[in-house]
Amino acid sequence: MDPNASGLAMRLAEAGQSHLLQFWKNLGPKEQADLNHDLQGMDFKEINGFFQKAMETSSSSKQEKMDARMEPVPREVLGSVTRDRESLKDWELTGLHCISQSKVAVLLLAGGQGTRLGVSYPKGMYDVRLPSHKTLFQIQAERILKLQQLAEQKHKIKCCIPWYIMTSGRTMESTKEYFSKNNYFGLEKNNIIFFQQGMLPAMDYSGKIILESTGKLSMAPDGNGGLYRALGNQNIMDDMERRGVGFVHVYCVDNILVKVADPSFIGFCVKKGADCGAKVVEKNNPTEAVGVVCKVDGRYQVVEYSEITLATAEKRSADGRLMFNAGNVANHFFSFSFLKDVVQKYEPQLQHHVAQKKIPYVNGEGQLIKPDKPNGIKMEKFVFDIFQFAKTFVVYEVLREDEFSPLKNADSQDAKDTPTTARHALMSLHHRWVLNAGGHFIDENGRHVPAIPSLKDGTDLPIKCEISPLVSYGGEGLEDLVKGREFHPNVMIDEKGVHELVKNGV
Ligand code: UTP
Repeated sequence: MDPNASGLAMRLAEAGQSHLLQFWKNLGPKEQADLNHDLQGMDFKEINGFFQKAMETSSSSKQEKMDARMEPVPREVLGSVTRDRESLKDWELTGLHCISQSKVAVLLLAGGQGTRLGVSYPKGMYDVRLPSHKTLFQIQAERILKLQQLAEQKHKIKCCIPWYIMTSGRTMESTKEYFSKNNYFGLEKNNIIFFQQGMLPAMDYSGKIILESTGKLSMAPDGNGGLYRALGNQNIMDDMERRGVGFVHVYCVDNILVKVADPSFIGFCVKKGADCGAKVVEKNNPTEAVGVVCKVDGRYQVVEYSEITLATAEKRSADGRLMFNAGNVANHFFSFSFLKDVVQKYEPQLQHHVAQKKIPYVNGEGQLIKPDKPNGIKMEKFVFDIFQFAKTFVVYEVLREDEFSPLKNADSQDAKDTPTTARHALMSLHHRWVLNAGGHFIDENGRHVPAIPSLKDGTDLPIKCEISPLVSYGGEGLEDLVKGREFHPNVMIDEKGVHELVKNGV
């Protein structure tokens, strides 16, 4: 295991990374073995190449704004839940038919570190304090289960929606254990396939790999676009092929409202003959820091807010909407053959993006330093980097209040996208489902509570109303339970029926 004898020291010297062994002699045998194991598995030439390219791209993109090269999404490739109401049923039926044929798989991106939320376990295991205390993973699992049932009932055929879950080195074991402990939430174990994305070292600005302790490199997952490399090197495409998967819905773990394998979205993409589709929500504030889907030099991509001028962000179309308003929510459709091409042909062309970070490091004396300003970079690929390769690209616009409420930050007074905002978004949606199905909520004086909650004590909390995904996937099937009935808030609807909960008792 001597790094000189094994040739490791030489490889590191050639790559300009010899500093990684500077504390070797001070390490115990176990630490030496671990460090040796980590270093032996790394291709330093490749990592240095990633660094150089990522830095070059990042400095050239800083200089040049995208404005002149951008075009908005043309109407012909756009489907919208508000503007194309007459087609929605047809798209939904098409999607449900594909699901009934077991042609649709879902793929969850759950390899992130959730640093902003600040919990030590995978984000999918987070409980946003719904009355049921279901976690994000459980909500998604139950939506899948329900959708399978809806497709089976409609087409009188047994079907399955395989669920591919991408984790990282840091989240794999705890995620698997959580699913196993919870009996896969009623899904079949064989239809949940876990796989692991790659990790890359953090580097300082001169390209030196950072040590987070004297015997350990600072490593981070290689971004949600690490998906494509992981799909290839863990034979996931072969698994999909064996199962006859034709279409894949890819989504992020942190959106509590996500319509997993949304039949309308799938149906729209299939009817359009698309190989790649992006679900978007309307961006209606020019300065909102969200990436927009648009064309750049004739090819689709996501352009970040920082890459355009305010003048372009503020441009409006004749209908008064922002011209670049297709807000990306990392929710995508891929045909199997497109995904296969990406994995086999295009993946090496994708470049890493640079994220400047404050990265704890050990200095020359072996002391751990926590910097207060960015001191290095993490390299990440993004899941949407592959839009450029699509031959038939489509965009599907949905309502933010129905479908998008991500969990990013811990609760604090001014924070956006927190457990509280996620919980409220879900309960407000379920409140509207009850109203749409003909039910009502009444207050202590017997008056109907309006759908828009009033300001009371300075807070505008939605009614506590939670509907189990096992009862309703998207608001359907509630009439028998609620039509013409009046409920006191708070209400929970599950497979056993409607329960009024003790006020403030949840
Ligand atoms: P974010 O970019 O919001 O990252 O991920 P995050 O890890 O959830 O949170 P922060 O930035 O550390 O606070 C968006 C989605 O992409 C996944 C996440 O799990 C989430 O579903 N992701 C992110 C990966 O799967 N792999 C990655 O390397 C990064």
